Amino acid sequence: MKAVICDAIGEPVRVVEQETPEPGAGEVLIEVQACGLNYVDALICRGGYQVQPKMPYTPGSEFAGTVVGVGPGVEGFSPGNRVLGRGGYVSHAVRPVAALNKLPDNMSIDQAATFIQSYSTLCYAYERARLAEGETVLVLGASGGIGRAAMDLAKAVGARVIAAASSEKRLDACRAAGADGAVNYASEDLKTRARELSDGGVDLVVDPVGGDVAESALRALGYLGRYLVIGFASGTIPKFPINQVLLRNRNMVGIDWGAWSGAHPKEQGEILVRLLAMMEAREISPQEPSTYPFERAQDALDDLYERRMIGKAVLIP
Ligand SMILES: NC(=O)c1ccc[n+]([C@@H]2O[C@H](COP(=O)([O-])OP(=O)(O)OC[C@H]3O[C@@H](n4cnc5c(N)ncnc54)[C@H](OP(=O)(O)O)[C@@H]3O)[C@@H](O)[C@H]2O)c1
Repeated sequence: MKAVICDAIGEPVRVVEQETPEPGAGEVLIEVQACGLNYVDALICRGGYQVQPKMPYTPGSEFAGTVVGVGPGVEGFSPGNRVLGRGGYVSHAVRPVAALNKLPDNMSIDQAATFIQSYSTLCYAYERARLAEGETVLVLGASGGIGRAAMDLAKAVGARVIAAASSEKRLDACRAAGADGAVNYASEDLKTRARELSDGGVDLVVDPVGGDVAESALRALGYLGRYLVIGFASGTIPKFPINQVLLRNRNMVGIDWGAWSGAHPKEQGEILVRLLAMMEAREISPQEPSTYPFERAQDALDDLYERRMIGKAVLIP
């Protein structure tokens, strides 16, 4: 089987041959057909993430593929089943069946490979912030992975979405994905435009970007507005004047889905089942990602990190 490995921080990743594992009791062998790319993968390989894995290391955290082998005692899974699961950039993986979910017929392998992290994070975040039908959500970095999931799930609960991004090309992608309003934060004043587009203030801000635009986004929140702190793709952790939280009785809500899902596997499993049911019912429509072969994994990580990518991407083994 093939695997992408990072030998040392800052070195280009490379593809290596490894022995294909055999499924044991209660396990299946999956032929991985797409591996989801996430911003954190690029960050870890560059040494920029708060947790550093031991090297050499296989980056990645989610995949989708087809069951090709079944170990003893497996029930409910058979060769040919299309599944999604957690794990790095490899062409074959063995997993216990309890760690896998089957795909609905209307979900492509590529969509599934980019689904777990971004959609679960937003599902968990919206539960924490109690997003309700009819509310208005301002999404920063809206054309990115987290941003697209934030828009899709907000629309699914009947909220209005204002997409904010750094270029017209990115905003066009957001409009095509259903955004009700759009703000270019590279050329417009975010607070002023977001307030205009929301009759005086938005109910929720989804912020995976941080940096310069964050304070403007906080000031765009209306009465009892909630600010979801999700990430710092800009590379800068914003510092806020705390009076802006007191004013209008606003709330700051920190989201660390990775830590939460690790500590609450049962609840995370329930979130994923719910999300897949929404997919099957066509209540959400995850973007079809762009594709890179394994051999171009470093290009893909660079495109992601250096802001050249629009939306999600997968690596194909
Ligand atoms: N808290 C959690 O549980 C959790 C879960 C998943 C991900 N995250 C974090 O969320 C962040 C975003 O993830 P993502 O998957 O949405 O990433 P992504 O697909 O790369 O999108 C990030 C967006 O940030 C904006 N951005 C601004 N400055 C940037 C810069 N210097 N480099 C790259 N992008 C920049 C870009 O939009 P514009 O060009 O339009 O500004 C881009 O579309 C990451 O920091 C990730 O680690 C957190």
